[in-house]
Amino acid sequence: MPTSNEVIISPSIIASDLSTIGIDAETYNSDIIDMLHMDIMDGNFVPNLTFGPGFIENLKKHTKIPIDIHLMIEKPENSLARYIELNPEYITLHYESTKYHARYLNLIRESKIKSGLALNPSTPIEAIFDLIEYSDMILIMSVDPGFYGQPFMKQSISKIGRLKEHLLLNGFDKVKIQVDGGINEINIKDVVSAGVDIVVAGNSIFKEGDINQNTLKLKKIAAS
Ligand code: DX5
Ligand code: ZN
Repeated sequence: MPTSNEVIISPSIIASDLSTIGIDAETYNSDIIDMLHMDIMDGNFVPNLTFGPGFIENLKKHTKIPIDIHLMIEKPENSLARYIELNPEYITLHYESTKYHARYLNLIRESKIKSGLALNPSTPIEAIFDLIEYSDMILIMSVDPGFYGQPFMKQSISKIGRLKEHLLLNGFDKVKIQVDGGINEINIKDVVSAGVDIVVAGNSIFKEGDINQNTLKLKKIAAS
């Protein structure tokens, strides 16, 4: 994991061929790929279904790359304990998915895991301002969650900028900003300039070519 101001890239594995991901993950270079983003979808909070904790537990046997869990599930509290057991780098829950954000963000932190709070494009950034003190990371969705390969919503750039300004003005400079949805070689520089620290990318990394090289290319553009 980079320690400097370098942008962290978290490839979203739902955009890969999940039937061979264990074997494929053994070729992922941990000097390049900082985290692996796991999209947990329940067919209820979002209209798609992916995988659960058992799958991640098996995948972890094939890689030492830290895991970044994005819960797109109703009432994440019902299965939070299972995700905590996996000891990932981050567990992120959605603002729209529960009523008791502070309670569950604290539970994640008490387990020595970094807490993330995600918000959908339709949720105003001000909605989460009172929850920042419980969060190690805020995830700005730049597509409606549910599927990879959707086009980037450019309105997210000003949302990221407003969040960054709020963090700096209120002494939350250690809180990271993650962006997720439609990030590619064309828009990565814009989101990083607006204040993003961690970039999730699915389609632009897994669509074609070599995963390590594609990730490196995004990093280079972000740093340029
Ligand atoms: C969307 C997911 C994203 C998605 C990213 O619901 O949370 O992580 O897989 O994939 P791309 O980069 O293709 O939008
Ligand atoms: Zn995601």
